Amino acid sequence: MVGAAALDTGTRCRYKISVHSRVDFGYPWFVIYGHLLVAVPALLFTLVAWRRKWHKLLIASLSALALWSLVSFLIIRFGIDMNGRMPLPTAAFLASGSGTVLDMGAGSGRSSLMVLEARRGTTVVALDTFSASYVQHFGGSGSSEQIIEQGRRRILSNLRAAGVEQRVTIQPGDMRQLPFEPATFDAVVSSYAIDHLDPAGVVKALFEASRVLKPHGEFLLVVLSNDYWMKFAWGPIAFHSRLRGAGRWMELLHGAGFKTTEHGAKPATLYFLSRKL
Ligand SMILES: C[S@@+](CC[C@H](N)C(=O)[O-])C[C@H]1O[C@@H](n2cnc3c(N)ncnc32)[C@H](O)[C@@H]1O
Repeated sequence: MVGAAALDTGTRCRYKISVHSRVDFGYPWFVIYGHLLVAVPALLFTLVAWRRKWHKLLIASLSALALWSLVSFLIIRFGIDMNGRMPLPTAAFLASGSGTVLDMGAGSGRSSLMVLEARRGTTVVALDTFSASYVQHFGGSGSSEQIIEQGRRRILSNLRAAGVEQRVTIQPGDMRQLPFEPATFDAVVSSYAIDHLDPAGVVKALFEASRVLKPHGEFLLVVLSNDYWMKFAWGPIAFHSRLRGAGRWMELLHGAGFKTTEHGAKPATLYFLSRKL
């Protein structure tokens, strides 16, 4: 930790603000609270329909809509909780507790924070393009340099609020062509990021993960899954078009030179722990 006495006034001021700030991953409100825009009117109409004794079929339809949207809201807000801290999906990842980790598609820092908090001896390189996909998820405006700067500040602010910012380096870059030498990292993590790429991009990113890992390095891949939670909450609205099953992900991992040692599922999520062969 940098001593307060060594800080100039401006730095000290920024430090003070950051210590009191909260972690805010910045996923958009309409993804998390959008179902309430249906739930509230549907509930009100259900009450009116019931009090005015409208047709039973109408009351039943309105009640079903209200129930679906309310349960979907609860699934997304509390089950998936994408603006909350993410626990490591498996205790087997970097069980030694230390090492240099690359986070491919770090976004606003949620996956980097997951590693930094659970594995206190690690340092993390948080890599993101900070381009169109970043803006789509987390917002941003101005030139590409300004968006990179906004992205950098958002990650730092989140990691600082958690007291782990000394162990991160933020690196703009594309996971399909990583700006690192072969065998640089002890582990790579990527959460809800590779699944945003087109099929050719997915293959390139997996090969890149393998290239920058040291021999026997670990790769923790976390992706969205089109499970019952997702199907119930999002229904026919194809919010994410590139979802694959666990079998296909393992084939892709194998093809890129990994041996998957553990895989599993969480609400809306699949995870794979693999080792570079
Ligand atoms: C849904 S966010 C996930 C962020 C974070 N890993 C998490 O778990 O919250 C996906 C991130 O992947 C990034 N991304 C998409 N394509 C990328 C690429 N080719 N290289 C690096 N990052 C990319 C986007 O900019 C975005 O920040």
